[in-house]
Amino acid sequence: MAIGVADLRVGTARAGCRMLSLLLGRRPVPLRAMLALRRLGGRRDALLPAWASETMALGPAGLDFLGKCLRRSAPSTVLEFGSGDSTIQMARVLADVRGDEDVHVLSVEQDAGFADGCRARLAAAGLNAVVAHCELVNQPTPDGETLSYDLDEEFMTTLLPAGGPDMLVIDGPSGDRRVRYPVLPLVQPYLAGETPFLLHDGLRDYELGVAALWRRLPGVSVEGVHVLDEGFVAGTAKPPGSN
Ligand SMILES: C[S@@+](CC[C@H](N)C(=O)[O-])C[C@H]1O[C@@H](n2cnc3c(N)ncnc32)[C@H](O)[C@@H]1O
Repeated sequence: MAIGVADLRVGTARAGCRMLSLLLGRRPVPLRAMLALRRLGGRRDALLPAWASETMALGPAGLDFLGKCLRRSAPSTVLEFGSGDSTIQMARVLADVRGDEDVHVLSVEQDAGFADGCRARLAAAGLNAVVAHCELVNQPTPDGETLSYDLDEEFMTTLLPAGGPDMLVIDGPSGDRRVRYPVLPLVQPYLAGETPFLLHDGLRDYELGVAALWRRLPGVSVEGVHVLDEGFVAGTAKPPGSN
């Protein structure tokens, strides 16, 4: 079978990603390099593994990565967007790392039925986490409105402890290309200080586009993308007005 120029471009871009990731070890590949490789790849979702379209949940490598991140940083409160396997994994790891039965994972979920299912899975596994259903409403982005979580003050202050979250894991909502953009600016006012975030699906065009917009937000720093599973964009966010 003949290999076309388009396939060569995709193959080269993916190989470039993997090579940079290997060279950098535990550090993420800088966003500028990822965006350049994305342009080289040419076609839609050129950097995303082919299997990614078949699953909504984090894959085994993603769950393992998340578990290792949590074991290193041992956050007290992870605020997650998009419930599922990741919620179970984080609740399990933090129960082990912190050695208590406190709630360390707060998960925001767009689908009421899915939230019920996740609560049942947590209970069956003897794990503690809060799964809070949150409707989607129109929210602003730099290029028009998009449906995203209705993270109003009442919802956020009811959900969060006084000290705010000390880690953000964003794997929702699911929807159009800008659906996850509003999450970070809406959460920033509830942060107590510089807070690390991970945005899953970081090898997908939508999330690379969101990361490129987030890095222009005051108080947000986008470090790069961890090239494993479907990718994790890594960065930090501060509350508005902090230096
Ligand atoms: C990317 S998924 C979140 C996956 C989650 N973090 C996990 O690791 O399983 C984003 C949203 O898609 C919805 N969702 C998750 N799994 C689904 C499935 N199998 N079919 C349809 N929707 C799903 C849920 O509303 C979820 O919040």
